[in-house]
Amino acid sequence: MRKISLLFFAILFFGQTLAQKVNGIDIDALISKMTVEEKAGQMTQIDLGVIAVGDICNLKNPQQLDKVKLKRALSDYKVGSVLNVGCGSGTIAVDNWRSIISGIHAANTSYNNEVPVIYGVDAIHGANYSMGATLFPQEIGQAATWNPSLIQQLNAVTAYETRANGIPWNFSPVLDIGRQPLWSRFFETYGEDVTLASSMAKAAIIGMQGNDVNNATHVAGCMKHFLGYSFPLSGHDRTPAWISDRELREYFVPTFQTAINAGAKTIMINSGEINGTPVHANYDILTTLLRNELGFKGVAVTDWEDIYKLVNVHHVAATKKESVKMAIMAGIDMSMTPNDYEYTDCLIALIKEGSIPMSRIDASVRRILILKAELGLFKNTIYPASQYTNFGSKENSALSYRIAGESITLLKNDNSVLPLSNEGQKILVCGPAAQSLNLLNGAWTHTWQGVDDRFNTKGKLTIYEALKQNMPNNMLEYAKGASLDSLVDISDCINKALTADKIIVCLGEKPSTEIPGNINDLSLTSAQQELVNALLELKKPIILVCCFNRPQIIHSISKNVDAIIYGYLPGDEGGRAIADVINGKINPSGKLPFTYPSAVNAFMHYDHKSSEELDIDFSNNAYRPEFDFGYGLSYSTFAYSNFSVSNDTLLTYDSLMVSVLVKNTSAFQGAETVQLYYHDQVASITPSVKKLLAFKKISLQAGESQRVEFTIRAADLSFINKSLQRVTEPGMFDLLLANFKTSFYVD
Ligand code: BGC
Repeated sequence: MRKISLLFFAILFFGQTLAQKVNGIDIDALISKMTVEEKAGQMTQIDLGVIAVGDICNLKNPQQLDKVKLKRALSDYKVGSVLNVGCGSGTIAVDNWRSIISGIHAANTSYNNEVPVIYGVDAIHGANYSMGATLFPQEIGQAATWNPSLIQQLNAVTAYETRANGIPWNFSPVLDIGRQPLWSRFFETYGEDVTLASSMAKAAIIGMQGNDVNNATHVAGCMKHFLGYSFPLSGHDRTPAWISDRELREYFVPTFQTAINAGAKTIMINSGEINGTPVHANYDILTTLLRNELGFKGVAVTDWEDIYKLVNVHHVAATKKESVKMAIMAGIDMSMTPNDYEYTDCLIALIKEGSIPMSRIDASVRRILILKAELGLFKNTIYPASQYTNFGSKENSALSYRIAGESITLLKNDNSVLPLSNEGQKILVCGPAAQSLNLLNGAWTHTWQGVDDRFNTKGKLTIYEALKQNMPNNMLEYAKGASLDSLVDISDCINKALTADKIIVCLGEKPSTEIPGNINDLSLTSAQQELVNALLELKKPIILVCCFNRPQIIHSISKNVDAIIYGYLPGDEGGRAIADVINGKINPSGKLPFTYPSAVNAFMHYDHKSSEELDIDFSNNAYRPEFDFGYGLSYSTFAYSNFSVSNDTLLTYDSLMVSVLVKNTSAFQGAETVQLYYHDQVASITPSVKKLLAFKKISLQAGESQRVEFTIRAADLSFINKSLQRVTEPGMFDLLLANFKTSFYVD
């Protein structure tokens, strides 16, 4: 009798796991009915260009579905996913998006395909391929806010505005750590620090996905680009990275692990290679690490054409068929093919001849169907337009303005030259970024590279326009002085400068990403350098505004100018936010999320090792960045006092309370990020001179004080040891907070 009931429960249990129902969809029943062709189709993602009117890279604008091509994709090939705007053809209106998405859905149903198509898009800093959407600062600026709750809100708005277009999947956030400032996608990262970037990663996923993605307001996020993509030795995009397994786990895995723990639904794979193995062909990374060790259960999609690149770029496969087998067996679920069907043909052949086991295919198809069911796509591919009255709203722009305002980092302010008074001053505004929305937004803005200004959001202000608007009692003049590449009527600029009381020079960098953004060093363009040099000769107060994709070297300038405002790529509201920092309406509170290098090849990180501090005279002065990680001034002053630590010993199962009193000693409200660092005095892996342990951003009224507390556990002091295990070794540690330092023992 007992045996029978055990058997009964066992059947019930296994029966239930097999018949997995997600939002009412019986995933395994569906899979059991699917043909090989249908399964291969689910594992295929094509670009919109393949099914739109026109040639792949010369589409009709706005993009329109081509019925014949659509039939080939959905009826012949049973394609399960489509992406983007079609070969960089540019932003379109919400209505166009909605008719594309519903057109795909209608065609899919007309061919009796039971499984809906999932559409994915790069909504990198807002729904940037949708006209009138809210454009936020790029990720590097988001990190500079040190305010994860704002980043959660930003991602919720991006998700809402993406779903308003009928698109349920966003290829964001980038979780690659920004420790190679030459890299063309540095601005897409949350900076160099694992702790800061991980808290941003968590906020981004929670904001984008909410508690449930089966609704009109959330989308599935996609963690990018697993793993080690951001650290090419040459700095050039998609070139080799050399990273040991230990370093991979120490610096590159944590942001992904945090996002996986926060429930991230999908992941995109690094197009490059690590230690000689392309990541798309790396079983150890895609299966052993990602699935078995990190516990990721969602969909792994390739990056652009990356399976073919195993043949024609990486040369690890002789034929496309071989490359398909390699990538699928390594752990890929879906191929962003994206411009033809050769991958799909190869996959079908490989399954039919038994070279890829059906169990391997079913595992991927199951993940893809679960994602579609979780997003509610089987029932509701698109929600009514009437549900999106907040699309591109004033409220959303206000959030973008707030985030830009909190990101902008004041790096220098000699003699309190800033904020500028609003009375009777003559101010010259010049430089390539003074009158350009493109240079405030960077790549992934209306087009892939973001250099086309035809689609710019109407009504948004450049820095000069915003300054003119918010400083009506000053006399403002504009002279370009220089484009990014050449001087422009420099004599006009100098003449205007001669009579000006103050000069605001707005420097920039050409919007770019991926391979088109490759550079060989971080020098400021010579035209911009010459412009600043010419203005410096006049010995007038100069305020430098920098809107760069990555830190450009300003060493020879920074000593001589009076103020430096680092704007990152602040988005559509960046002009207003920068102008309001200049006039004092915004009290700056951004802090650098990276170490600002002082020379073209001096790449160091704040959490460097002691050996990196040894100078040629053997003193400890070699680490001399232009500005340190975590640095940023305010118009307020803050006093730290009463630093205390609850105990001088931390037991592994216990915690330690660290606290400090922070007072705003100025006459106006300001925000401060309290940063707690630690240093492991002796460890089996050379310890960093300091590492960020925790941070809190607080806002204080004039004269107000607040006690800030941190709870520290031994696990927070852990690192990856030689055996690739995360450990906290007993011994002495230092705690560093502002000018305070204390030591404690970990037992
Ligand atoms: C980029 C990805 C992006 C994809 C789709 C690739 O070239 O590396 O970040 O999501 O294209 O546009």
